[in-house]
Amino acid sequence: MSTISAERWVRVSEVVAETTGLHFPPDRFDDLQRGVTLSASALGFDDVAACADWIGSVLLAPKQVQILASHLTIGETYFFRDSNTYDALTGCMLEDIVRERRNGSRRLRIWSAACCTGEEPYSLAMALRQALPDFSKWDVTILATDINPVFLEKAAAGIYGEWSFRAESSDIKARYFRRTADGRYAVIPEIRAMVKFAPLNLMSDVAYPSPVTDTHAMDVIFCRNALMYFAPAAMRKVIGKLHDALIPGGWLAVSPSEASHALFKQFVLVKSHGALLYRKGVADAPDVPAWSWTPVAPEAAEAADEPVNSGAPTTAFCTATPEACAAGARMHADLGELEQALAWCERWTAADKLDPRSHYLRAVILFEQGCLDAARGALQRALFLQPDFVLAHYTLGNLASRSGEDDGARRHYTNALLLLNRHDVDDLVPESEGLTAGRLTETITSMMMATSHDE
Ligand SMILES: C[S@@+](CC[C@H](N)C(=O)[O-])C[C@H]1O[C@@H](n2cnc3c(N)ncnc32)[C@H](O)[C@@H]1O
Repeated sequence: MSTISAERWVRVSEVVAETTGLHFPPDRFDDLQRGVTLSASALGFDDVAACADWIGSVLLAPKQVQILASHLTIGETYFFRDSNTYDALTGCMLEDIVRERRNGSRRLRIWSAACCTGEEPYSLAMALRQALPDFSKWDVTILATDINPVFLEKAAAGIYGEWSFRAESSDIKARYFRRTADGRYAVIPEIRAMVKFAPLNLMSDVAYPSPVTDTHAMDVIFCRNALMYFAPAAMRKVIGKLHDALIPGGWLAVSPSEASHALFKQFVLVKSHGALLYRKGVADAPDVPAWSWTPVAPEAAEAADEPVNSGAPTTAFCTATPEACAAGARMHADLGELEQALAWCERWTAADKLDPRSHYLRAVILFEQGCLDAARGALQRALFLQPDFVLAHYTLGNLASRSGEDDGARRHYTNALLLLNRHDVDDLVPESEGLTAGRLTETITSMMMATSHDE
């Protein structure tokens, strides 16, 4: 260790653990110093001691945390790492879900929550492609997030060398990759298009679970070989939030070395195909809050032809306030119960016709259901009521992008960016459940870049 005192590194280590989750005990202070040294100039310092002091004394902005993380994180990953887990994905985790939904919503939501350079989410996409012969009839989301923007850039490019295939057979290469002129392997467009990459810090209090970052109501989360680098308190926090991001009965896959009875107490341990998996209890759905609906006498419900206490509001008898309707809508949306959530949105609109937020939430849900025209209409109503509704502009951009309307997407994203410019980076974006203006600006900017790359 250089001239900088150990006490300073203790403080830097605390800040790094609080902001990124990463654990740097005294025997790893050399690694910590190396990371801070590499980050110093991007953080505006020539001198590592001054940089370390500054890190220990300020509240870091998300961008600054990202800079630090990009020099402190470990990028070890490869295709079909711990292949047992992929066998368990298709042979166990998705089995019931696919059987139950085959004749219904055909919706699957999977999240690779520390995706590194993309090998894991692309492996998920390939595994799904192989497991679902009628794949094109399914509405599949594979969200892939990481704190390190450099890793995400490589992931989005989807080009790999031999080392990324160290556990894989040539069969995968032949099926899902094309050779590049310089002898590397590019993921084929069909697989690339299945994965949506976005920056996300697992230590963020607000970024997830949330419909805004599409991190809610997940069927399966892969968060492997990331928590093992986390400080114990950070591990507990992240595991709790990942639990919240799953639907009841949803699955969490960690690496074999991360499995722990003490840490994953909220989950049920399942052994399958040689892998250890954690499952959220089917009964873990929160109760419908008592204030959110008015109990209905059985005979009255029968008369109204509506189920008693279904969790959805009864049109004839619900006397909920707009706030209660909003909470009911959000709760069901978070659980992936989209029809109930839509029913609550309708009640919310009826209870307060001038509130743009009910139209916005309705649009997010309709978007998720693939009802793009209806979602667009709901967003336009939200903007009619509140022209500076940043998230409505942003979601219109996503909608246009999903419909292949790149010019429209850019126009809506630009509107959102112009509105965000009026805010300080740390201001919270209304209706985003805690996303900052700075973070949303970064997300939109990277989406605009992705739109122009695709051209
Ligand atoms: C060793 S890689 C694991 C990649 C992949 N999941 C696998 O198992 O092969 C660990 C990843 O965790 C990411 N990571 C570390 N801290 C994070 C945080 N706070 N939020 C999100 N990702 C984080 C790192 O950037 C890195 O890409």
